[in-house]
This record gives sequence, structure tokens and C-alpha cells, in this order.
Amino acid sequence: MGESVPRHVAIIMDGNGRWAENKLLGRIRGHVAGVSAVRKIVRRANDRGVRYLTLFAFSSENWNRPRTEVAALMQLMKFNLRREAKELAENNVRVRLLGDRSMLPEPALKAAEEAEEITKSSTGMELVLAISYGGRDEILEGVKGLIREGVKEEEVTEKRLREHFYLPDLPDPDLVIRTSGEYRISNFLLWQIAYSELYFTDLYWPDFDEKEFDRALEVFASRERRFGKTSAQVEREKSV
Ligand code: FPP
Repeated sequence: MGESVPRHVAIIMDGNGRWAENKLLGRIRGHVAGVSAVRKIVRRANDRGVRYLTLFAFSSENWNRPRTEVAALMQLMKFNLRREAKELAENNVRVRLLGDRSMLPEPALKAAEEAEEITKSSTGMELVLAISYGGRDEILEGVKGLIREGVKEEEVTEKRLREHFYLPDLPDPDLVIRTSGEYRISNFLLWQIAYSELYFTDLYWPDFDEKEFDRALEVFASRERRFGKTSAQVEREKSV
């Protein structure tokens, strides 16, 4: 048996567009419905005792979407971060931004940084918003950081590389969830998911609710994480 509740859950929230298209609605309506799902899952994750919840809200590749859709997504994030920051702080949730801040339009960046500021003394769940995030970019940033520091080859370690990631103290995800029936990682947390459990569901993100989140946690709890060791070794370690 695995540990009961994953400490860090990371979610690829996919399928807003298809959810809307199936209902003959515009894609933006799908993103609006996606925000409602975000609200439900944040609350549920916090109630279940998850320590870190990372949501893939906008990838570095999403900048290539039609201009109107990019603008609508930025607007949605800005509006909701402004609206929710105080309540998140009251619930002891800390907001953190993960990604290339320099790419964000000023109003969205300002809203995100204000949410970080308003929630900075929260000691409960960390809500990590991956916005303009790309896993390869993050690794490249790490490599550039090491070069800037003048680190010698023999001094290059995983730990030193990580120090240059966007959020060096963020632990690796225990569980990665992807909705919408796609079985891909899409450049999300590439380095950090080396030993994560992966969970896929066919549901589109706006249909992913508390019950489905609980189901993913149940599946996680039933898996055995061996980190490259044998079952017998893991069992022995547990008994000491
Ligand atoms: C993927 O669906 C979803 C996104 C690219 C955006 C997700 C963003 C939100 C739900 C808003 C988040 C807001 C806050 C405050 C964090 P898709 O458009 O790729 O769907 P498709 O694959 O069906 O086209």
C-alpha cells in the first residue's frame, strides 16, 4: 500500500475547449467552467490535507493559441486571482506562481503577485499556479544558472541544478492527474515527475469534481511506490 494522502498533487487541467464544443458553446465558456472546477478542487484538496496543489493553468506553448483566447485566459486568471486571494488567505492557503513571469502581461502578473503577497503568511496548503510554464524551459534555466555561477563539472549535482528552478523548495509531485483522455505530460514538470504516480481520466476538466478527485486519491493510495527498489525492500523499510 502507498501512503494515504499524496503530499503534492499536480494537475494537467485539459479539455475545457472540447467540453464547450460538445455543448455548442465557445471555447472561452469552457475555460469559465474550468475555473469553477478549479475552485472545487482547491477546496477539496485543502480539506483532504494535500500540502501542495499545482495546477497547469497555461503552458509556455499556449502563447501560440489565437490571440483572443490567450487574452481571455489572462483576463480570467487576473479576475479570479483578484477575487479569490482574500478568501484563500482566510483559509490559510498560500498562492505561488510557477513559470516565466517575464512573459505575462502586466495586469495578469500584477494580480498574481498581489495574490502571492496577500497569502504569503499562510502556513497551510500551497496552491502553485503554473502559468507560462514549460518543463524544458525550467531545466534550461537551471543549466544557465549553473553556468552563470561558474560551477565546475564535478560540482554539478541534482541539488545545485534545482536551486535555479522557478520554485526550488517545491517538492516533487507524488501524484499527477491529467483529464480529458490524453495520455501525455505536455512539458509539465519534466524533471520533477521522475517518480510520480500518473492518473488519467477521460473526463473533461470542467466535469472533474470532488468525487473524481477523491477517486484519484484512492487509486494513489492503492499503488505501491518503490522508487526503483524491490517490493521486499520497501516492505522491510516500512516495518522498521
Ligand atoms: C486546457 O483545456 C485548459 C487550459 C489551457 C486552461 C486552463 C485554465 C483554467 C481552468 C483557468 C485557471 C484559472 C485560475 C485562476 C488558475 P483546452 O483548452 O486545452 O481544452 P481542449 O484540449 O479540449 O481544447
